[in-house]
Amino acid sequence: MCGIVGYVGTKSATPILLEGLRRLEYRGYDSAGIAVLSGAGELQVKKATGKLHNLRTAVGTIEPEGSVGIGHTRWATHGRPSDDNAHPHTDCHGDITVVHNGIIENYAELRDELQAKGHTFRSETDTEILAHLLEDLLPTTASLAEAARLALQRVTGSYAIAVVSRAHPGHIVGARLNGPLIIGLGDGENFLASDIPAILKHTRSIIILEEGEVADVTPTSVTLTDLNGAAIARAPIQVDWDAEAAEKGGYPHFFVKEIHEQPQALRRALLGRVVERPDGLALRLEALDKLAATGALDKMRRAVLLGCGTSIHAALLAKYAMERWARLPVEVSIASEYRYADPIVGPDTLCIAVTQSGETADTLAATRLAREMGAPVVAVTNVVGSAITRVADAVLYLQAGPEISVTATKTFVTMTTVLYLAGLWLGRHSGQLVEVEERQMLAALQTLPGQMERVLETMTAAEGPDGAIGRVAARLAGCHSCMFIGRGPGFPLALEGALKLKEISYVHAEAYPAGELKHGPIALLDPTVPLIADATTGHTYEKVISNIQEVRARDAHVIAIATEGDGGIQRHADEVFYVPAAPEILAPILAIVPLQLISYHVALARGCNVDQPRNLAKSVTVE
Ligand code: G6P
Repeated sequence: MCGIVGYVGTKSATPILLEGLRRLEYRGYDSAGIAVLSGAGELQVKKATGKLHNLRTAVGTIEPEGSVGIGHTRWATHGRPSDDNAHPHTDCHGDITVVHNGIIENYAELRDELQAKGHTFRSETDTEILAHLLEDLLPTTASLAEAARLALQRVTGSYAIAVVSRAHPGHIVGARLNGPLIIGLGDGENFLASDIPAILKHTRSIIILEEGEVADVTPTSVTLTDLNGAAIARAPIQVDWDAEAAEKGGYPHFFVKEIHEQPQALRRALLGRVVERPDGLALRLEALDKLAATGALDKMRRAVLLGCGTSIHAALLAKYAMERWARLPVEVSIASEYRYADPIVGPDTLCIAVTQSGETADTLAATRLAREMGAPVVAVTNVVGSAITRVADAVLYLQAGPEISVTATKTFVTMTTVLYLAGLWLGRHSGQLVEVEERQMLAALQTLPGQMERVLETMTAAEGPDGAIGRVAARLAGCHSCMFIGRGPGFPLALEGALKLKEISYVHAEAYPAGELKHGPIALLDPTVPLIADATTGHTYEKVISNIQEVRARDAHVIAIATEGDGGIQRHADEVFYVPAAPEILAPILAIVPLQLISYHVALARGCNVDQPRNLAKSVTVE
């Protein structure tokens, strides 16, 4: 977590850095800071605890002048959020300044060594050692890049950094190891950032730094080397993201904007993958075709899906689909558990890493472990060129466009969809899926975007204090806890619904397989604990209704998500939200929409910060 931005050119750096940080704030918002080097060689550092607007206030109307600078928005790891611990950090004399995303694991011993040499530290952070290491090295090195290479050779851990030095005006040095860093190429100006939306307004020509690379960036040049100084040539890629995609577009929050973008995101996820042929719909996943052609899947007997947070819920849904279509045993494992669980994995196991950002540290480490043990790896991610794509043998992109809200919405539905497509592909590859069912599923997937548009229309009509969403939000906003239930694919749906509510409204929520409720958690229910049930049509529908009855007998308030045309559900629930009919496995992709919107309205009713929930960060690049 933490966001980095840098600018070197001829314009005033401060507004560019502040604007870049605004777009990176989803990566952390405990504190923020900038450092700007003026033409006269003055290095000004401004920092503030808390959200970016505090930094704006600290900067005030007299902005630091200069056309070289770096900025940072922090999600605290070493040292609590404070002005001192905020980045950029400087050396003893304020000549060198550094921003960092990651963790320097051997910082304590380096700090002792540097203190023994007389360096004075001002913060509790691991990052500050980099500024002092550079201070030590610069006098005997030819360039800032060389000093950075030597400094980084001494550290263990993970980093994406940007460095500015008074002794080398007109240069920013960036480097990465297990933390994202990109360079944006402009005309007489260049940019550094943790991700693309931060600089999309300025350029679409991007160089993605690889692990262990160092970049020396001036207004007119970018020189790449490895940590030993060996030159690296890399052509830029052109990003086709729409700059509007990183704006709120008239919505009050990215969260709700991205909920409404879901039909379009689904269309993009299906684009070029579900194709019309003269004899009907066909599935095209070239990345998997190519992987199979290498023979890497010849020994496949099972699959393991790895991820964290929302991604694990998409993986749980995919388990149902893959086991059904490919008759392939599928294990779903939370990445932070998997890596320390001595897993049984080898060339017979297809590892599918599921990660929106492609940079979640736990998912990366678990996937690397599976790969080291011989598993072929497929990555399912939204971010082009992200770290997971370098671990994987094949990549399936979500094609969802940038997701800015910390809490995932459109990437959940596209992730689930892309995993389902992979499930259909595996079904065909294993010879277990009959063509008729494949075609039916592809047709059903293609109707999803239109169906989701209908859900959004119905839900919009249910907003306002007198609408069903308003009533439900008012009830949930005042309760201390809430229960979600579902069966089969309805269970991961319940998990994702509960996570949304917890993340953005801070209402405690638990999700249970509906049949498990009576084995313990039912003890928690009383009239103050509402129950939200997935009662969409499926082969366990009657069982879910029985479970709802058990709950109603305890006077709990019941909110149901049901399939259009199910008039009978009204007898069993106090409130019902309908979604269009879809095959059971696809229903969660529609049914999540009411749950997302309910969470949104509960968060609004409770006055929570929807796009930047407390304590969270969108991508967690530390263990
Ligand atoms: C963080 C975010 C979650 C996200 C999880 C996994 O915890 O707050 O919303 O689901 O990381 O992220 P990934 O990018 O790997 O899907």
